[in-house]
Amino acid sequence: MPHDLVIVANRLPVDRVEQPDGTTGWRTSPGGLVTAIEPVMRAGDGVWIGWPGGVDVALEPFTHDGMDLVPLTMSAEDVEGFYEGFSNGTLWPIYHDLVAKPEFHREWWDSYVAVNQRFAEAAAEHANPGATVWVHDYQLQLVPRLLRTLRPDLRIGFYLHIPFPPGELFQQLPWRREILEGLLGADLVGFQLAGGAANFIRLVRQRVGHKTHRDLVYLPDGRTVRAAPFPISIDAAGFEELARSPAVTARAAEIREALGSPRRVFLGVDRLDYTKGIHARLRAFSELVAEGRFDVEDAVFVQVAVPSREQVEQYRLLRDEIDRLVGRINGDHGRIGRPAISYLHSSYPREEMAALYRAADIMVVTPYRDGMNLVAKEYVATRFEDDGALVLSEFAGAAEELRQAWLVNPYDINGMKAALLEAYAADERSLTRRMRAMRRTVTQHDVKAWAASFMTELSDVHTHEKAVRPARRS
Ligand code: G6P
Repeated sequence: MPHDLVIVANRLPVDRVEQPDGTTGWRTSPGGLVTAIEPVMRAGDGVWIGWPGGVDVALEPFTHDGMDLVPLTMSAEDVEGFYEGFSNGTLWPIYHDLVAKPEFHREWWDSYVAVNQRFAEAAAEHANPGATVWVHDYQLQLVPRLLRTLRPDLRIGFYLHIPFPPGELFQQLPWRREILEGLLGADLVGFQLAGGAANFIRLVRQRVGHKTHRDLVYLPDGRTVRAAPFPISIDAAGFEELARSPAVTARAAEIREALGSPRRVFLGVDRLDYTKGIHARLRAFSELVAEGRFDVEDAVFVQVAVPSREQVEQYRLLRDEIDRLVGRINGDHGRIGRPAISYLHSSYPREEMAALYRAADIMVVTPYRDGMNLVAKEYVATRFEDDGALVLSEFAGAAEELRQAWLVNPYDINGMKAALLEAYAADERSLTRRMRAMRRTVTQHDVKAWAASFMTELSDVHTHEKAVRPARRS
């Protein structure tokens, strides 16, 4: 049945998993995108088109937990070329400041084009006349244009969840023009930060040659496209409510006790990704232990690493590297029953995450580059007693809003050590002052506000254009 709102994202909110007994079940998909869009879907009456994970999984549209989902099948070649290849071997590193080296393969690009075409066709099929289609993230940048060709009647929004890089990096892409033109199929292109939107506008002017004025692009066919920042957020009230629940409160106490009731618990929660700076943060912590600044009886670091993209070479190497580092640190500095680092390579449900956040005194989020980082916001949302410290990388989008965190440069190990020490020793008044301000930001700018402002801009985009269209274009 066609819908008035169609969400298109590479992943569905749930991932199909084979259980040990041979049956199949569903698990919440990893990553910030799903966390953010799920509440939007629940509030509206839309349909979500995406990949349910796995190879050659052919399923009919179904309803899960009240959401209408349309699964798209991927073959082994699609997974290799489109998903692991072009999306995560080419685009992901380029869009994250070349933290790893991107690879360019023409077959990967061909697969990216073909899979984007299939997503566009599915969206065209499920949209009512004049419907709104909201396309998400770097895996689907060609969909807006392909979809507009199929269905010029639609209102199309695109949102990029990861950073949009500066021209110097973007220009390395052999297919840079096609990607910019793909995005220009949308009426509104949303980014996390103003910097990403500005990078996009500049590239469109320089590389595609379209006229632009402030945040608008004027296309030769008379259409305009707006590019603007919409910093994403979380369901802050929902997280707080969960954190306040008796079950989570009890579980948080249990976690602290299991860790040996140390004076301070440090926590890191990330997908196991080389952009997240896990290695550098564990090194900073372990040096403090080695120097005797922290004693393992007083300070424990819990690192949760959610398995991710395990078939991609760079991710396998990272996993080995972290395993080795944790083993070495615990071997050198741990005592019986007291590892310096409690390392968990697994994903956990929301309740367990909320309990971990509540059990943690110092949350450490140190990516080299991150679109936003919702973990930082989730931690803040759960600290309803206005306590706890956040150590946050300057290079996470969240740093633009959470100014009261201990902001660090993840490339500067000594700087990170100093911040960890300061957060460890901070007095209650300073913690309260900082956390209260951050909580205000996160509760006021929650995911509902984010989605509402994107949707409002999307429906206003043409009105807006008339109001600001200059007499002479620049
Ligand atoms: C990030 C991306 C999402 C992606 C998620 C998980 O949050 O922005 O698009 O879905 O990571 O990665 P995966 O490759 O498992 O979908």
